[in-house]
This record gives sequence, C-alpha cells and structure tokens, in this order.
Amino acid sequence: MADLDQNTVTDAVIAQMASTPDPRLREVMESLVRHLHAFAREVKLTPAEWLGAIAFLTKVGQTCTPIRQEFILLSDTLGLSRLVNLMDDKANRVGDATETSLLGPFYREASPRFGYGESIATHAKGPEMVIFGQVLNEAGEGVPNAIVEVWQTDADGAYDLQANDPDVMDMRGQFRTDAEGRYAIRTLIPLGYSIPMDGPVGDLIRQQARHGFRPAHIHMLIGAEGYRELVTALYLGDDDHIDSDTVFGVSESLIVRPQPGVEGSPDPGVPSVRYDFRIARRAPHDTSGRVGADPSKIAAE
Ligand SMILES: [Fe+2]
Repeated sequence: MADLDQNTVTDAVIAQMASTPDPRLREVMESLVRHLHAFAREVKLTPAEWLGAIAFLTKVGQTCTPIRQEFILLSDTLGLSRLVNLMDDKANRVGDATETSLLGPFYREASPRFGYGESIATHAKGPEMVIFGQVLNEAGEGVPNAIVEVWQTDADGAYDLQANDPDVMDMRGQFRTDAEGRYAIRTLIPLGYSIPMDGPVGDLIRQQARHGFRPAHIHMLIGAEGYRELVTALYLGDDDHIDSDTVFGVSESLIVRPQPGVEGSPDPGVPSVRYDFRIARRAPHDTSGRVGADPSKIAAE
C-alpha cells in the first residue's frame, strides 16, 4: 500500500467508508471527513490542541443530564441550530408564513389549558402584558380551533423547570383560537436570561469574552389540523441583548414592543402586543420545524 500523507489520508478514509449502504449516511460522513480534515490542516491542529478538544467534548457529554442538554447548548452557541433552522425554513416555509425560531430546551408537553384572555402566570408575579391577534392561513383567513402554545420565563428570567419543583407548571399554557382564529394571552413581561454558564460551554463563552445572554422572549408553538406546525418566538425589542442573542434566535419580524392602549386588546390598560401568526398548509413531505428538542425525550431515545 502507498504511504499516507496529510492529503491522501482524507481520500483513504473516504474510500474505506464507500461501502456504507445508506446513501445519505455515506454522503454526510464523506462531507464531514472532508471538512474536518480540511479544518485540521487549515489551523495546523497540534496534538495538544486535539487532546484539548477531546477533553472539551468529553466534558460536554458528561454535563448532559435528563434535564440538561449541553450538546444542544454547544450547537446553539455555535449558531448551528439557527443555521439548520434557517435552511429548513428556506426549504419548507410557504409564502409569507411567520418566521420560525428555536424551540429551545424548555418546551414541555401537556401544559395547562386556558380560555381566551386568561393569564398563564399561575404562581409567578410581576408586571403584566397581553398578546393577542389572529392565527391566519395563506389567504389571510382566521384559522379556527388552532392550538397556540406559549412558554416563557417569569419576571426573574427563570423557566418553571428552573424556578420551582419540576412537577409545577407555570408561565406556560395552551390556548385555542375562536371561530375567527382569534387568541388572547395574558402573561408577565418576561426577562432575558443567561444560558447555563456553569459547564464547558459557559467556560468557552467566557474565553471568547461573550456575554451569554438571550434577549427576553416568549416561545410560541402553533398548530392546526392540516397545517404545518409553526415553532417561533416573539422577542422584546427593548432588551439590551436584542442585537447580540448568544444563540442567534432573533429575526426582525419577530420583535415586539408591548404598549398600553393598543386597539382591540382585551385589556387596553395593560401593555399589549397585537401579533397575527400566519401558518401554511402542510405539504405531504413535511416534517416538524422543531429544532432544539425536549432534552427528556433525547435522553429517552
Ligand atoms: Fe427561551
């Protein structure tokens, strides 16, 4: 056999993997090896740095628990989660459907159900706001009986999973649109928060002199029979970190500024936001737009 050098080793690996029966796995792994080897050559990766990277990834794995997913956090802070999301949006988002955003690690199934205009703050206290509007289809018609799921931090910047006994659900819930596709949610003004900084990803963020904060936001998941599930979030425009989200989730079209006296608000005295969500019909090949999954499910897989 021929001696390998720093270029031919890449071809040797790809040749050996050519037997992979699954064509997509073969394609992905071949590209991964090409880019990984090119990266190592470009930065002239030293043995000590290679070992440091192995130690870092080992620590990322060891930091994962059923309720903490350090690998997703790493993906988020490298912008990879957003990139996957943007590509999926470009391939599957129809017309002027609302832009998507990351699902994040704090979504929980089976949150409590609320009626029109009720408050999701069942335990937490703080300044209130209202979000209301319509869920619309591509033709601009209201979609009746759509599910609007919402979850967010409280006024101290903590999700219920972080603030309470994990069995207690607060600051999250499900609403149904009425016959005209209308919904209204009363909630607290959320506070932005730092990603968990006590693990290896936090160490890296500090070494990069980044702040580690996400601007205040309200997660929304909207679904209706026959429509593509919409995973998105509304971001509060006055947050100091609105232009430097540490996980790159913000889009201009998702920025809101609650104000008193908004016409049509179920309580105009409370700072309100009118936001209409546009959802699109589900195509036959459609998959869910959920990027960044529930860590408890990942742990169970
Ligand atoms: Fe979040």
